[in-house]
Amino acid sequence: MEPGEDSKAVAVADRCWQWMAESGARRDDVVVALGGGVVGDLAGFVAATYQRGVSLWQVPTTLLAQVDSSVGGKVAVNLPQGKNLVGAFYQPDLVFVDPRVLVTLPSREFAAGLGEVVKYALLEGEGFLDHLEREAGTILGRDPLALGEIVQRCVMFKAAVVGEDETDRGRRAILNLGHTAAHALETVLGYGVLAHGQAVALGLLVALAVSETVTGLDPELRPRVRRLLQRLGLPVQAPPATVDDLVQAAARDKKITAAGRGFVCLEDIGHPAWGVPVPGEVLGRALEALWE
Ligand SMILES: NC(=O)c1ccc[n+]([C@@H]2O[C@H](COP(=O)([O-])OP(=O)(O)OC[C@H]3O[C@@H](n4cnc5c(N)ncnc54)[C@H](O)[C@@H]3O)[C@@H](O)[C@H]2O)c1
Repeated sequence: MEPGEDSKAVAVADRCWQWMAESGARRDDVVVALGGGVVGDLAGFVAATYQRGVSLWQVPTTLLAQVDSSVGGKVAVNLPQGKNLVGAFYQPDLVFVDPRVLVTLPSREFAAGLGEVVKYALLEGEGFLDHLEREAGTILGRDPLALGEIVQRCVMFKAAVVGEDETDRGRRAILNLGHTAAHALETVLGYGVLAHGQAVALGLLVALAVSETVTGLDPELRPRVRRLLQRLGLPVQAPPATVDDLVQAAARDKKITAAGRGFVCLEDIGHPAWGVPVPGEVLGRALEALWE
């Protein structure tokens, strides 16, 4: 399939289903999703639906897919009306990660994956954040051992959360830290202006600013995270956009996505709170921080 988000489509899934049927694929065959998150979500959806489900192996080749999308069982395709609107919860039987494949990843994609890694560090606790600050140089050098360690930490954390709440009805919402503002930025700027992980980096800064007002987060954390994001090659300032448009996009997003149960805030590093009501004016003030 062609690279890019457009391939996460029903038409491409249809081609895969028909190819499998023509090739005589059976229920005891295995779909191997070798690629980034787009391949993982599409191939996972095909595996979940072909003959009511065949075995799925995820072999993620982007940092984002290794630390996040290959684990947790969310598979989906997009509709013209929105992202991930048709999908399933379908767990892979195997996830195989080799950090050495990341050496060929374009820098923008690599940095985007690091946006999700910083999210996991904020959710997991001080030890992980401190580790990223100390090891930023080796991580940026794409040292396989250093990458293997951060991938393992993210996956262990995500797997534990998903194990408690597989179908996303409660605590799994914490994995959306930074994503309300990230989705709003993607909608208002247009998809593709920022890579998803870049939008998440900015969204994390907004979530921290909101948390300072709403859940009493120590304001010292935000400049610290800002420095780390900058060091990791992630944006800390957004392209021009109107705060009102972003607040409205966030309000609309809340109605249709998991973020609908409210905002994800931090009380402290490693202590997320979800379902927090956040007034539009608080979100608006926090968004201003994107152009500081
Ligand atoms: N299922 C989930 O839980 C979940 C979570 C987060 C994101 N996602 C989805 O993941 C998708 C984004 O995934 P992504 O960030 O991996 O992007 P992607 O799959 O589009 O891959 C990015 C680019 O990198 C290329 N590429 C992949 N591996 C490479 C390698 N080793 N070397 C060189 N180039 C390589 C791809 O061809 C593509 O052009 C989105 O559709 C998003 O919705 C899903």
